[in-house]
Amino acid sequence: MTGTEPDSQHIDTTRPHPARVYDWFLGGKDNYPVDEELARRITAIDGGAPKAARANRAFMRRTTRALAAEAGIRQFLDIGTGIPTEPNLHQIAQSVTPDARVVYVDNDPIVLAHAHALLRGTPDGVTEYVQADARDPHTILEQAGRVLDFDRPVALSLIALLHFVADEDGAHDLVAALVDVLAPGSFLALSTMTADFDPENVHTGIAAYAAGGVTLVARSHAEVGVFFEGLELLEPGIVSVAEWRPEEEPRERISLYGGVARKP
Ligand SMILES: C[S@@+](CC[C@H](N)C(=O)[O-])C[C@H]1O[C@@H](n2cnc3c(N)ncnc32)[C@H](O)[C@@H]1O
Repeated sequence: MTGTEPDSQHIDTTRPHPARVYDWFLGGKDNYPVDEELARRITAIDGGAPKAARANRAFMRRTTRALAAEAGIRQFLDIGTGIPTEPNLHQIAQSVTPDARVVYVDNDPIVLAHAHALLRGTPDGVTEYVQADARDPHTILEQAGRVLDFDRPVALSLIALLHFVADEDGAHDLVAALVDVLAPGSFLALSTMTADFDPENVHTGIAAYAAGGVTLVARSHAEVGVFFEGLELLEPGIVSVAEWRPEEEPRERISLYGGVARKP
């Protein structure tokens, strides 16, 4: 594990935090009353919020499985990992390829405090956790480079991360800096929030997060497309996460776009 060791003073339980609010939506126990309060407020506005969290998690599972099984990817860099929820990304990747190497990155001390659950992989594989901020891609690349060989293909996953980083806060620069170092044959998988399908509820939800001190950004289909510029999108392109190669017929449009693309 690299990064600062957690101490209770770094875990601010007076303000809601995205990783813990998301954990509540997924039915987890690693959240505090302040997180539950915001999660309940958002659920009251948009009853579909817990469903969106589960659909997003399922998107992570399907994209990881596709990249490991169909594209033969053996190295994964997952930024904005979240509090561990089984199955975690390394468990999916290593169930396909036992020697897969996975580096997790998050900037939340509570994720660091639970990172031991992310580090129990197969005997042949490697998992590592780096505490770093996505807006500092150079630190991430330097530390991930101790485990991953960037001369060979890597799957970079930014699942439900980029809506926490505004354009003016460097969202595009961080994606460009990370994709730039990837070898040809690497992949970018991402999901991020949109107001394209349900603008009223999404904007009210964004306002509730903002009142809790959390910045959220919704992006249009075209704006999400900018993250994939220069890459080859896999079928079915950029779609609502539940519509990306679904295992069952999606019943509704989840307000998160997802896509996977290959670096030529
Ligand atoms: C909604 S959770 C998504 C978790 C997981 N990727 C998934 O989709 O199931 C978003 C995660 O991104 C992390 N995050 C938000 N902003 C970040 C930043 N600037 N740098 C690193 N991690 C960040 C949060 O701490 C949280 O754990």
